Amino acid sequence: MLRRMEGGPVTTSFLTELGQVLHEEHFRILSLICGLENRVAGDEGRRPIDPRNADERANLRALTIALDQIIDHNNFEEAILFPLICEHGGGDLTSLLIQEHDTIGPLARHVREIATTILDHGIDAQRWDEFQIAANDLASEMMSHLQKEEMAVVQRLRSFLDTATDHRLAEKHLAERPPTRIRIAFQ
Ligand SMILES: [Fe+2]
Ligand SMILES: [Fe+2]
Repeated sequence: MLRRMEGGPVTTSFLTELGQVLHEEHFRILSLICGLENRVAGDEGRRPIDPRNADERANLRALTIALDQIIDHNNFEEAILFPLICEHGGGDLTSLLIQEHDTIGPLARHVREIATTILDHGIDAQRWDEFQIAANDLASEMMSHLQKEEMAVVQRLRSFLDTATDHRLAEKHLAERPPTRIRIAFQ
């Protein structure tokens, strides 16, 4: 899906300035989500997260912050970017993406809520189960959403935004929400 996953160095020169910023942000979100999914599935998944372990605690804390940042990323798209796409004939596309945000938001908040409970009150079998299910649900929704946005928005920004608007939004986004703010937990 994302170009970096195809192997080799990232080539983003065909993207607009805002496209590059969003691509970087999507890549960090994807890395986070893959790390989370790997932690709750397979062999790793048989070993419940232990909040008494300093590394696991740090990962859970980083996750709670990153989940808020994902929600904030979606808010930026809805408030600033999607109205411009809509004005340029992308109304159906943005409606679909907003619907997906409406699914992802509650899922992300649910994962964050369980992570916070684990941090505050420890882990047990039921809580671990709940966390695994919620994390998997979030991961599958998020992955298909990122894939869609990469193909239908990030790679097509040139047809939705003029160069000046693209530049202005890229600068604004970098100043207010640098992609590197998203720490990739569970690596
Ligand atoms: Fe996005
Ligand atoms: Fe989005």
